[in-house]
Amino acid sequence: MTTFTVLDNALLKTELSTLRNKSTSIPLFRATMERISEIMAVEICRSFPLETFEYETPLETTVGYRFKESFLIAPVLRAGLGLQSGFLKFLPDATVSHIGISRDHRTHQPHFYYSNIPARIEKLRCIVLDPMLATGGSATMATSLLKEKGAKTLTLVSVVAAPEGVKRFSEQHPDVPIFAAALDRELNADKYILPGLGDAGDRIFGT
Ligand code: PRP
Ligand code: URA
Repeated sequence: MTTFTVLDNALLKTELSTLRNKSTSIPLFRATMERISEIMAVEICRSFPLETFEYETPLETTVGYRFKESFLIAPVLRAGLGLQSGFLKFLPDATVSHIGISRDHRTHQPHFYYSNIPARIEKLRCIVLDPMLATGGSATMATSLLKEKGAKTLTLVSVVAAPEGVKRFSEQHPDVPIFAAALDRELNADKYILPGLGDAGDRIFGT
């Protein structure tokens, strides 16, 4: 059964209010998404397994911690790019595999157009980045693709999730935990999230 977690963090709440505001400029929207990705990265890394190792301080040998696994970050193009820098800031050695999926404006179905996924993915902990979980079609497709290529351990990171998207994703990928900054009310007739923040890709890139 999928675990769905809305991260309880005061900074996330204030930053998300800036993202939602239609008066927020493109540069501020982009910078805020970047800050949100940093906060979410810190929160989500709490749950990842560590191992101990010995090293030398200037005075003696001591025991330190490092992550047990290596990471793969998979931003779903385009809006997932907005979350990339925060995760790379804290996981700088992560492999980055972009996955190109766009949602058809008329049918709202996801269309795959690009990916670059390494063969050694089986050993990597994969973090799928997609700020909007609306119908859930895009995130579900990206996760299926990573699994087809061999991914075994995955986490989905969204900023704003809709109940419909959480349901669809959980049914398809019950083994993949979802982390979000907010669970919104519903989708409108055009499958946009309400209250939402609009079209995340357009607001990041000014299109
Ligand atoms: C947006 C968003 C998600 C997707 C969510 O992408 O970035 O990937 O919609 O909707 P879904 O859950 O109903 O699939 P979009 O297709 O607008 O592409 P873009 O990021 O390039 O703007
Ligand atoms: N994609 C977006 O960018 N926003 C929504 O509300 C739904 C899908």
